Amino acid sequence: MKNKEAFYLEQVEEALARALPEPKAADLQGTVIRAMRYSLLLGGKRVRPMLTLAFCELCGGSVEQAIPFACAVEMVHTYSLIHDDMPCMDNDDLRRGKPTNHKVFGEAMALLAGDGLLTKAFEVALSGELKAEIAASGTRLLASLAGDQGMVGGQCIDLEADGKSVDLTTLQEMHSKKTVALIAAACSLGCIAAGGTEQQLEAARRYAQGIGMAFQIRDDVLDVLGSPEKLGKNVGVDEKLQKRNYVSLLGVTEAQRLVEEYTGKALTALKDFSGNTEFLRAFAESLAVRER
Ligand code: IPE
Ligand code: IPE
Ligand code: MG
Ligand code: MG
Ligand code: MG
Repeated sequence: MKNKEAFYLEQVEEALARALPEPKAADLQGTVIRAMRYSLLLGGKRVRPMLTLAFCELCGGSVEQAIPFACAVEMVHTYSLIHDDMPCMDNDDLRRGKPTNHKVFGEAMALLAGDGLLTKAFEVALSGELKAEIAASGTRLLASLAGDQGMVGGQCIDLEADGKSVDLTTLQEMHSKKTVALIAAACSLGCIAAGGTEQQLEAARRYAQGIGMAFQIRDDVLDVLGSPEKLGKNVGVDEKLQKRNYVSLLGVTEAQRLVEEYTGKALTALKDFSGNTEFLRAFAESLAVRER
């Protein structure tokens, strides 16, 4: 699993750097390109693009086939982090072990860097060698899961829940939109790139539902139990902002129990694949106890 992870990571890092080259001396818009590269290229676990590559291989495709979709989903995710950290949202000053984008480049440039990464994602998603209808169907899926029915919708629910009392159903809906949606996009895009079957796509979605919920609930837990040195971001932010999450509603112990329960659901979904699911099994298990 470690070798496979290192291999996927290397492929992703190289492809992202290629997709967003340094500005040329004559580029008057060099600042926004530097701001985009600052957040995209230095740090980040690359969970989502690794999932895209792994599902593509599991469905019989190659890493090369999946790379444009993998980069696209990481670009959308990075844009969401830049905007999530801005003063008008979570007002954070540390991300991926460094000062947040707006701390370095200013708010206006951070806004543009997010916009630039979001739009670049769709350019990249459509730029590979995939058949036009496969590229189009993956790109459409990414757009729908990133937008008001997915991540953006979840961020809206998150902001409007601040300081209020919300029930478990609302939290589930919030997490499944703000975080599961992009993780589901990542897994599904791998299957789509490989030309996977409807059954494979459906099982990938179930796996994503499991690890996606587990991932965000673990994030809620780490905001209480984690360390900024390991996480590369501040802790205690949720309580300070009166964010509503699984820990504020259920406490740390019950929240971590749910991380394990959702991880179990992801592992069950893997049984529906005939190929080698070893990487995806070990990956889900390691994310349930992650410290970064
Ligand atoms: C952080 O995502 C935001 C959440 C959805 C919890 P990651 O924990 O994947 O952040 P990076 O990409 O590794 O920085
Ligand atoms: C953010 O959730 C999820 C996104 C869609 C960016 P959080 O606000 O909890 O993420 P962190 O803790 O800042 O990474
Ligand atoms: Mg947030
Ligand atoms: Mg945040
Ligand atoms: Mg968080």
